[in-house]
Amino acid sequence: TYTNGHVGTADGPETTEADTSGSGRMRKSLEGRGSTQNDSIHLKRRVGLFSGVALIVGTMIGSGIFVSPSGLLVRTGSVGVSFLIWLACGLLSLLGALSYAELGTMNTSSGAEWAYFMDAFGPAPAFLFSWVSTLVLKPSQMAIICLSFAQYAVEAFVSECDPPISVIKMVALLAVIMILFVNCYSVDLGMAVQNIFTAAKLVAVLIVICGGAYKLAQGNVQHLTNAFNNPAPSVGAVATAFYTGLWAYDGWNNLNYVTEEIQNPSKNLPRSIIIGIPLVTLCYALINISYLAAMSPIEMIESEAVAVTFGNRILGALAWLMPLSVTVSTFGSANGTLFAAGRLCFAASREGHLLDILSYVHVRRLTPAPGLIFHSLIAAAMVLYGTIDSLIDFFSFTAWIFYGGSMVALLVMRYTKPNYPRPYKVPLIIPILVLVISGYLVAAPIVEKPQIEYLYAVLFILAGLIFYVPFVKMGLTPRFMGMLIL
Ligand code: ARG
Repeated sequence: TYTNGHVGTADGPETTEADTSGSGRMRKSLEGRGSTQNDSIHLKRRVGLFSGVALIVGTMIGSGIFVSPSGLLVRTGSVGVSFLIWLACGLLSLLGALSYAELGTMNTSSGAEWAYFMDAFGPAPAFLFSWVSTLVLKPSQMAIICLSFAQYAVEAFVSECDPPISVIKMVALLAVIMILFVNCYSVDLGMAVQNIFTAAKLVAVLIVICGGAYKLAQGNVQHLTNAFNNPAPSVGAVATAFYTGLWAYDGWNNLNYVTEEIQNPSKNLPRSIIIGIPLVTLCYALINISYLAAMSPIEMIESEAVAVTFGNRILGALAWLMPLSVTVSTFGSANGTLFAAGRLCFAASREGHLLDILSYVHVRRLTPAPGLIFHSLIAAAMVLYGTIDSLIDFFSFTAWIFYGGSMVALLVMRYTKPNYPRPYKVPLIIPILVLVISGYLVAAPIVEKPQIEYLYAVLFILAGLIFYVPFVKMGLTPRFMGMLIL
């Protein structure tokens, strides 16, 4: 019931656009598609502006804003500095995403970083990205969010003691399976879940903001005055605080993974970014103020889950709404993450960069089911063997290496491919700034506190070459792969 995704994805006028902007190999596969177009199966363009915004906002707002504010306060030791970092993270995400808007409207194939690396640097770096991303980045995002989901879902029922870790892991696995099912069933169902959960989580955000406004109106402003009274934090502490904040904003590039399914991407991609990211930044800023209207910074640091403490203070009999909101929020975010991950797998494997079978699309359901199942299996293993904190640290370090890489790709292509159509052109200073900051984000924690794990992370990225040379460059097909394809 599967067909190979080599035939491409688009219908409608965007096909031409993709043809002119893809890399040599990409173009080859797209041209190849032309002749087989009629009997080909492809992912349809179903993502409009609303769904585009939902894919960004609904993925970005996940667990972070409900758990990280205390972490940021601990690391900076000051309400004012924390707040500035929250805003700076939003601005950095917006600048990064604007650069991705140029990349995504110039090369309209799905797969984000993978497609841009392919164009700018060629197949080997693109392969390294898909290697790290399919084996580590995407599954770890999924695992972190599902673990947070489980923690809150279980907490709602167990109030007397800490819930057993095995129960949390089982619930997290259940979440992975449910989301996998939704996304394999149909693209429409995946999108519907995304839209509904995004709307629901925006309502939850609104409840927090209104609660905070009510408290402020009562005159509870004492924790917001003198916000800069504490000593300034160290440079390294600021970098790690950024990591905590940036996790809450991660997902700003999510729509770039599914460009081939966006209707009129050259308009809707930049628009969704320009609407989505400032909206999230505004929500996060207001939520932080609301928390401080309801509790002191010390109470915030001591709270296991700020949002739940907030609910207990403000919502009275409706306090249960808070853990429920967090589960809704994380479930939606995990759904958006898997939706994007499946597309990355699909795009990379149709170029022969991953097992061929991962590029298959289910004939009737038109979903990239094998890619989705593959990601979910690795995510499940991470749920079983990892913890939220260890996963976040490793994730952020590796992710920012690649976000920086995309900025280099943009700059390189301004010179190597000056004639590619660029429906949206970002001012050059923006990718340069993001590149410098990502360099700082990657280097600062290593300089501040050298850990062997960072070396392992780099070695792991490079280890991909061991697979690249025989299987992709020389085109050897291991026996088991051949059997799968047959
Ligand atoms: N920002 C989300 C959160 O706070 C995590 C998003 C994961 N990243 C992604 N690209 N799907 O939980």
